Amino acid sequence: MEEKISEEIKRLAKEKDVAILAHYYVDGEVQAAADYVGDSYYLSKIATGIEQKNILFCGVSFMGESAKILNPDKKVIMADELADCPMAHMVDLDRIEEVRKSYEDVAVVCYVNSTAEIKAKSDVCVTSSNALRVVKALPNKRIFFIPDNNLGRYVASQAPEKEFIFHDGFCHVHKSITAENVKAAKTAHPDALVLAHPECTQDVLALADFIGSTSEIIDYATKSSHSVFIICTEMGIFYELTQKNPQKKFYSVGHRQFCPNMKRITLEKVRDALKNFAPEVVLDEAVRQKAYEPLNRMLELAK
Ligand code: 13P
Ligand code: SF4
Repeated sequence: MEEKISEEIKRLAKEKDVAILAHYYVDGEVQAAADYVGDSYYLSKIATGIEQKNILFCGVSFMGESAKILNPDKKVIMADELADCPMAHMVDLDRIEEVRKSYEDVAVVCYVNSTAEIKAKSDVCVTSSNALRVVKALPNKRIFFIPDNNLGRYVASQAPEKEFIFHDGFCHVHKSITAENVKAAKTAHPDALVLAHPECTQDVLALADFIGSTSEIIDYATKSSHSVFIICTEMGIFYELTQKNPQKKFYSVGHRQFCPNMKRITLEKVRDALKNFAPEVVLDEAVRQKAYEPLNRMLELAK
């Protein structure tokens, strides 16, 4: 009898000593095939404690790079090397130097959704679930927050004691969610609570009952006594939301909540990456070492 693809993946991963990590935005069937599924913070934390010799990442490039930065001795392979987050490239390295020259006391705070080269030029990394904690823990008053403008502004609104310089990066998926979409969804589902990711724009966040990372949204919906929710983030999250809460109802705010890069990951590509043991994440060692410092500082400050 022909082996099912999910069984083939399990067998190959065991044979080749690979841990499969997946972000909540990949398709549900890929999440179901993974050993560890989570938000960006969880995935970078877990990557440092994995017993398997190798990691297969089901997510976008910056996630695989972070796993490699933190685990130089492990081989990190990607399910699809073309799955890349556009926001990860939205910082010009010269701009970082320019800001450092203008403000000696500045801390360059880098959202993990960025390339290894950008991380290497930063003082500390953050994810959406630990950004506020990390920023508040920094001794610096002045913060240059890169690349995401929306997350930066959200964190700034919760940390009035700090002075922020913002950048103009954005996530096109979250930016495509408008306040009008949310209002229409609220009219259609008046009993629903609105749960939004901080990559959404300020006017969408102003309509939210809860703002948090993907894991935090899932936790909030799971613990809530409410049973109807409007979800303002990428659709992949619906898999875990409905797995954990089969009796609750979750609505999107339209039809644009898809990250085309996360959706490149398929079970076939996961199987092929395991078979070929490629494509591998390869980083310049000097860049990796420099990028390790801000990522590790994040893990320390977020504890
Ligand atoms: P979190 O998983 O940290 O919520 O990040 C969302 C994201 O955009 C990852 O690409
Ligand atoms: Fe990048 Fe947005 Fe896709 Fe996340 S959802 S990987 S931030 S484009």
